[in-house]
Amino acid sequence: MIILTIETSCDETSICVVDGKKIISHYTFSQVEGHKKYGGVVPEIASRLHSEKIAGIIKKLNIKKIDLIGFTRGPGLKGSLLVGKIAALTLSNYFQAPLYGINHLEGHLLSVEIEDDEIKNKLKFPLVALIVSGGHTELWYVEDYGKYKLIGRTLDDACGEAFDKVAKVCGMGYPGGPVIEKFALKNKDFISLFTVPEVKNSLNYSFSGIKTQVAYYVKKLKKLDYKEKIKISYSFQDAVSKSLLNKLKIAVERYQVKNIVVCGGVSANNYLRSLIANTFNGFNLFFPQRKYTSDNAAMIAVVMLRMIEKGLNYNNIEIDPDLQIS
Ligand code: KG4
Ligand code: ZN
Repeated sequence: MIILTIETSCDETSICVVDGKKIISHYTFSQVEGHKKYGGVVPEIASRLHSEKIAGIIKKLNIKKIDLIGFTRGPGLKGSLLVGKIAALTLSNYFQAPLYGINHLEGHLLSVEIEDDEIKNKLKFPLVALIVSGGHTELWYVEDYGKYKLIGRTLDDACGEAFDKVAKVCGMGYPGGPVIEKFALKNKDFISLFTVPEVKNSLNYSFSGIKTQVAYYVKKLKKLDYKEKIKISYSFQDAVSKSLLNKLKIAVERYQVKNIVVCGGVSANNYLRSLIANTFNGFNLFFPQRKYTSDNAAMIAVVMLRMIEKGLNYNNIEIDPDLQIS
């Protein structure tokens, strides 16, 4: 069975073809260069770049046969999602292949099941998942494939967005996550400048306050030099990672799980990974392989496979920029 999937929810145009459990083609065009000078994703530019690139990617894949098609129907940027949907609909009509609408965040969750371009069955349930990306910061309790409950979320900025904004304030480039991680690695004194963000009495997060803490700190500086950038990067990464960890700890205790997933773009961060790994010694910890942490169509293909195995039917193909889990 050949499955083709399309992911265009934000700033990556990605298409994947899976034969059985094997990923036979996977191509992702990253729009980072197009958004760099703005320090964040510009929705109009994103949809224009998707529509410019998607036909070329499809052509490159040289597809002869497709049995099923899946595309990301949300959450994400409306214009970007729409480009993916139109491409998916066109292919669906051409190949007479049924079309399915997939939740991007479920894709991130299941991205941990991709190993060496092979989709393997390895998640253990029940589990708690921490999804950390440029658009989302959510905690889920997961009973099984398709059985998700949202138990915590950011009340303002997503944590990846905070990484991007802090890098912008410090003139360090875009995307902020990788560059902040790189600067933080050069830190030697381990003194944290910022307080750990905390939303009391809930499993929710907030990252707008730490952004302000950084902005004030920068404003008071005489000069934002290389050494200061290192200090800020380390302190910011430390505070955000501890904030993520704190609620994850409460969720794991509250839901009595032994299995934990940490996924999404920010899960590429080594400091966050080791903090979590050191805390949850003896637990089953699932992180995606690094190449599958950011947005990609392979993770959408995993959702398609599990949908088939579990008899789920994701046949709603309406795009929904604010799509939640049910
Ligand atoms: O999941 P993703 O590719 O796209 C969304 O669905 O949003 O996540 C992108 C986010 C960006 O905000 C980026 O700065 C962040 O992930 N990111 C990182 C790292 N690599 C990417 N954040 C922290 N450390 C990293 N190494
Ligand atoms: Zn994403």
